[in-house]
Amino acid sequence: MSPAGDSRGYESKKSSMASVQGSGTDKARDLKFLKKLEKYRTRSRGSSRANAGFGSAKKLRGAAKGVHVELLRLNPSGKQLCSDNLIEKAKAQGLRFEHLGVTIGTVIHNVDLRKKLSPTLVQTIKQTLNERKVIFFRNQDLTREEHLEFGRNFGELEIHPFGKSVDGYPEILPIYNDARFPGAINNWHSDVTWRTEPSLGSILYMRECPDFGGDTLFSDSHAAFEGLPDHVKKMSMGKSAIHDFENFRRSQLAQGVPKKVVDEMKEHFPLASHPVIRTHPETGKNGIYINIAFTKYIEGLPIQASQNLFRTLIEAHKSPEYQCRFIWEKGSIAFWDNRAVQHYASSDYFPSTRSLDRVTICGDRPFFIANHGKL
Ligand SMILES: [Fe+2]
Repeated sequence: MSPAGDSRGYESKKSSMASVQGSGTDKARDLKFLKKLEKYRTRSRGSSRANAGFGSAKKLRGAAKGVHVELLRLNPSGKQLCSDNLIEKAKAQGLRFEHLGVTIGTVIHNVDLRKKLSPTLVQTIKQTLNERKVIFFRNQDLTREEHLEFGRNFGELEIHPFGKSVDGYPEILPIYNDARFPGAINNWHSDVTWRTEPSLGSILYMRECPDFGGDTLFSDSHAAFEGLPDHVKKMSMGKSAIHDFENFRRSQLAQGVPKKVVDEMKEHFPLASHPVIRTHPETGKNGIYINIAFTKYIEGLPIQASQNLFRTLIEAHKSPEYQCRFIWEKGSIAFWDNRAVQHYASSDYFPSTRSLDRVTICGDRPFFIANHGKL
């Protein structure tokens, strides 16, 4: 059929639809409805004006509620993204904060991590991590020893039992992707939750950065919990879930590791059972603690209810309101609290090289206390 034929057919179809539904541009009709609805809208605006201020926060639902609850915990004014106390400390030490998300993510400027950090500065960095959940540094030029030294300020360092470490540095895990090994960590997760004592946090240092893509996204587990409907919160609290490292076992087999050795791995690292809602050991806040990479199922519920709850909780971290996104540069550092956030590495840089070193801090056994707040 010729282009003219196509055009005639389309016009004829359009006019027959208009005769069924009425004109799509009937201005008199549209104006009538607009005036009618405006009358009600005016009344509604009038009543909400009477409830201005935080009273109207009762109307918030979902992610809007989750963010608002967490924001007020950070600063009761609801207008600062961290505590007044932290703002004062940062100012006194000449630090500058660049906040990336509302409840999560802050770049700390004016710190040289090559130097030995004073106990006061380490304390301020810890407090920033506790309040903002993931912190970042720019333009650092670290040797591997300096990277490890920075990590040791925050606890004992972990060795990953399955990931090949950097030669001579068992506590440094390289995260390397290029055209031969495309990035595939594009799922929301917290690290090593298959351990009985999953890590406290990780410190990633960018060595070779793609020209575009390869950002890391972080999502606030505390705000995500607060945004859940009440009945979902109630159903989740006090429940446990099973975590496993099945993915690693599969990849080891694929790389030629004998089944006998893989079975031995399973014996040494048995399934871990963790609370579905985890209480942060330092802030006392509760957060969602299941993830798609390692959590197998929620215990203590009929199968269908368990699967439904699993799906609901897995979806929660995906709301953009809970997130921040870090655009890497060579020499950038991301330091996240693995007990308070999940992360996602965007796989959009193939075939470029993306090469980072990870230093990981040992954590403790997750627990749950119903009354959240300061411990
Ligand atoms: Fe990870």
